This record gives sequence, structure tokens and C-alpha cells, in this order.
Amino acid sequence: MSWVQVPPGPPRKFLAILVIREDFSFTKHVHIPVCGILIPDMEVHTNIPLKNYTTMKLGGPARFMVEVRTPEEVIAIHRNAVSKNIPIFVLGGGSNVIARDEGFPGIVIRIRIPGFEVITDDINSTTIKIGAGENWDEIVKRTVDMHLSGIEAMSLIPGTAGAAPVQNVGAYGQEIADTLVSLEAYDSQTDTIVVLQNEACGFAYRDSIFRGREKGRYVITSITLKLSKSQPSPPFYDALQTYFDTHGITFFTQETVRDAVMAIRTEKLPDPTVRPNTGSFFKNAIIENWQLTDLRASFPDIKVFDMGGGRSKIPSGWLIEQSGMKGQLLHGMRVHDKNALVLINESATGYADLAAARDEVIGAVRDKFRIQIEQEPLELQ
Ligand code: EPU
Repeated sequence: MSWVQVPPGPPRKFLAILVIREDFSFTKHVHIPVCGILIPDMEVHTNIPLKNYTTMKLGGPARFMVEVRTPEEVIAIHRNAVSKNIPIFVLGGGSNVIARDEGFPGIVIRIRIPGFEVITDDINSTTIKIGAGENWDEIVKRTVDMHLSGIEAMSLIPGTAGAAPVQNVGAYGQEIADTLVSLEAYDSQTDTIVVLQNEACGFAYRDSIFRGREKGRYVITSITLKLSKSQPSPPFYDALQTYFDTHGITFFTQETVRDAVMAIRTEKLPDPTVRPNTGSFFKNAIIENWQLTDLRASFPDIKVFDMGGGRSKIPSGWLIEQSGMKGQLLHGMRVHDKNALVLINESATGYADLAAARDEVIGAVRDKFRIQIEQEPLELQ
């Protein structure tokens, strides 16, 4: 990558802006100088099929696509796109995003920012700053190799580190909200890089401000995690404990947890590189406890997990299975036969097929249980 030195001096408007042509065929290096800072030459690609960048393997063309490797590049692209009224979508690994057939009429920014830096290290814990573009599972592996605990149960989750806080990823009893100290992000409202502490991220079950009330405002550039030096200890998530019991494992380390999670996930979840999917396609259902009485009367076997605060979680995989949808092929989408929470794109011809399959599953659960389940992946629009 080459760099353009913008002459120092008072802040000024852009010397040049994205060279955007209407014929979509244009691909070349463009210079994006901004306000006297160093800005790289960046390659802007046009007319890029989103199905090649999302693990569900659906989606028409993005008008523009660019890869960014530094926060400065995020700022430059953002400012220029905003000045041209071009919509922006930030993509990590594409493993929790659904693209539509019409594609995206703006610029898709692919976050490739690297980084793995130990910030503090004491007798109990190590705090690490991680670039948003790092592959999540490689980070988990690195921290497990360092004998650190806190994200080992989130092994094999596809995607990037920067995408993890957006949906507050979680698995087997851990979620990123438990270890995230803070994150850095470009704030498009104030046009600055900001540090958001954990409490400012609005974390909840599979939710945060980044996909909720502040959707589109921030571009996460790094995350900082505080990981423990203690070894994992019981009680473990049910599926994990069952695995330990059946394999006679009684001594627990970060490695044994990672290995167990990898074995369970490999058995229950389809590999997105072989069978296109986005992991859990539905969020688990959250209901108010007062609704439980009627549900328990009609369905005595219903699986319920108390969430505190007068609310309970009902596994949507169980609801979908009980509704008779597990294993079904609907409009080219397969409801996974080992985990009904997952939809696999076997032969869908486009977004309409996926939407029809999704709506049939949601409808079947609603008809049987009068519970409305929701799609988990975000829509690229
Ligand atoms: N279940 C069924 N039928 C199914 C699937 C599940 O009856 O087809 C039952 C299970 O027997 C179990 C309960 O539902 O009693 C919960 O199932 P599981 O432990 O597999 O977890 P989950 O709630 O279905 C969540 C996450 C997963 C994560 C697992 C393990 C969500 C939306 N999904 O699934 O995350 O791996 O817990 O912690 O919260 C992902 O987000 O992509 C993902 C895979």
C-alpha cells in the first residue's frame, strides 16, 4: 500500500473525493486526502456480488466496496461517502448479515483492521486490545494458548472481533459483554474516534446499541478484553457438562473447554464454508414470567431458562422443533436437522426464498405457541 502525504496547514475541505462514476465498471486507486492527515491510496471496487461476502451466500451487487486497515481509513471513507450522500454499510466477516437480491446502493466497508496488543498484565488478569478486523476464532485460540479465560467457550464462532459486540455474541455460558472493558469506534455523529466503556454499549441478550438505538452511528475499530488467569470451573453450561461427563473429563482448563465446544459445535452446527448459513437464524424467545402459567399448562415439557428481572428465555430451537419444522426443506432453505435454530441455504434462488422460509417457521411457532420469534442476523440495507 502506498501513502499520500497531504501538505500540513489549516484544516480544509477534501482535495479530492472518491472518484465515483455511474457506469459501475470503474475500479482504480483513488486518493482521498482529508484535513492534513496521512491517507492511504485505497482500492475501491464496484459492482461486487454480496453473495461472495456473506456466509448465507445470497445477495446482489454492492455498488462500491472498500477494505479498510486503519481507523484513519474508516474516517476518510466515512467523510467522503457522507459528503456525497452515499449510504454506508460496515461488514465484518459477513457471518451474521443477510444481503438482498437488489444488493446495496452505497459503499460497503469491509473492516480488516489488525491488532493484538497486551495493554496490562497482572497476577490475576491480562487486558488485550484487539483490532476489529481480526478473525474471532483465531483470537480465541491465541488467548487460550496464553492460558487466559473468558472467551474460550466462544470458540469457533465465525466472524470478526469487531462484529462480536454488535450482537453481544455468546455461547456455552459466556458472552462478550462479560469480558469487554471498552471499545474504540468512529462516531459518525461527532466525527471523532471515541472510547466506549462496557456500560455505554447497552449490552443485552444478543443485543447492543450498535444494532439497536444507535444503529449506523459507530464503526467499531478495536475491542479491549480483560481475561482472567484463573482456570474455568463448574457449573458449566448443560451441553458442556454433558460432554465432560461422557468423556470422563474432570480437570478443566481453557483448552479442555475450547476442545469440548469445538466438538459440540462441529457436531451440531453446519460449517458455513460447506453449507451456507449464519449460525443461529433466530434469537431465543424472551417472554414475561406471567405468560409462563398458560404455556406450562398447555405444554408441560416446555424448556424455560430464568433470566431474572421477571423474564424467561425459551429456546427457539425447541419451539421450532415442537412446531414440526425441524429438518424441513422450505423454498430451498433447510431447517437444520441437528439444530432447528439454523437455516441452511441449500438451493434458495434469492432473498424472497429465504424470507418465505423464515416466515413459515415464524408462523408455525406462532400458530402453535402464540410466541413471536425473531430473526437474529442483520439485514444489509
Ligand atoms: N433445542 C431443541 N431443538 C433444537 C435445538 C435446541 O430442543 O433443534 C433445545 C436444546 O435441547 C436445549 C435448548 O434448546 O435444551 C438450547 O439449545 P442449545 O444449548 O443448543 O442453545 P441455543 O439456545 O439453541 C444458543 C446460541 C448459540 C450458542 C448456543 C450454545 C442463540 C440465538 N444461539 O443456542 O449461538 O452456540 O446457545 O450456547 O442465542 C449463534 O449465535 O450463531 C449460535 C450458534
